[in-house]
Amino acid sequence: MKFFIDTANLDEIKEAQALGVLDGVTTNPSLMAKEGIKGKDNILKHYKAICDIVDGDVSAEVIATDFDNMVREGEELAALNPQIVVKLPMIADGIKACKYFSDKGIKTNVTLVFSAGQALLAAKAGATYMSPFLGRLDDVSTDGLQLIADIRLIYDNYGFETQILSASVRHTMHVVNCAKIGSDVMTGPLSSITGLLKHPLTDSGLAKFLEDYKKGN
Ligand code: E4P
Repeated sequence: MKFFIDTANLDEIKEAQALGVLDGVTTNPSLMAKEGIKGKDNILKHYKAICDIVDGDVSAEVIATDFDNMVREGEELAALNPQIVVKLPMIADGIKACKYFSDKGIKTNVTLVFSAGQALLAAKAGATYMSPFLGRLDDVSTDGLQLIADIRLIYDNYGFETQILSASVRHTMHVVNCAKIGSDVMTGPLSSITGLLKHPLTDSGLAKFLEDYKKGN
């Protein structure tokens, strides 16, 4: 399973990259706003800075909600760097734009997916990635992991190449369960990746090894 980090914070991206397990980055307009990145030029500059840090795919979301402007915006984003993936909302014009970009060989990520039907449409439109929002479904007492399992089954039934990018991941157990289900990618905060390191038996075991080494030397 690929690990993406869901942030626009350059320090967090650098930290995840330095760990050596990062495969890409996802951003969204809320995450950009959280970092205070405003105005088209600054936003484009920020995407370039992210691409300079990571080796993998970087999802950059369009703001437009109509086909023509999504295409204009997406083409501008894609021209920034071959790592850019044009992130499109799961609405009719987003699906049309997804098909347009897929036909042109430009990578896409259909975002804000909350049902298996929406996931099917994204795959039919040739999306590179399709992002079901696990945590936001869990927030409203709906089983997000079950949705990902259903999508896995559907995609496997037909051999769709669209990658399931489990998004809105909140914690380490989401990551582990996504891996069990066979999600292709997960995107979450830095803590959902670094949290995987932790186990008290690792810490106590290492402390004992070092103590015993000191005794013998
Ligand atoms: C997906 O690409 C989104 O950026 C993200 O995962 C949403 O997560 P949230 O529900 O934590 O905002």
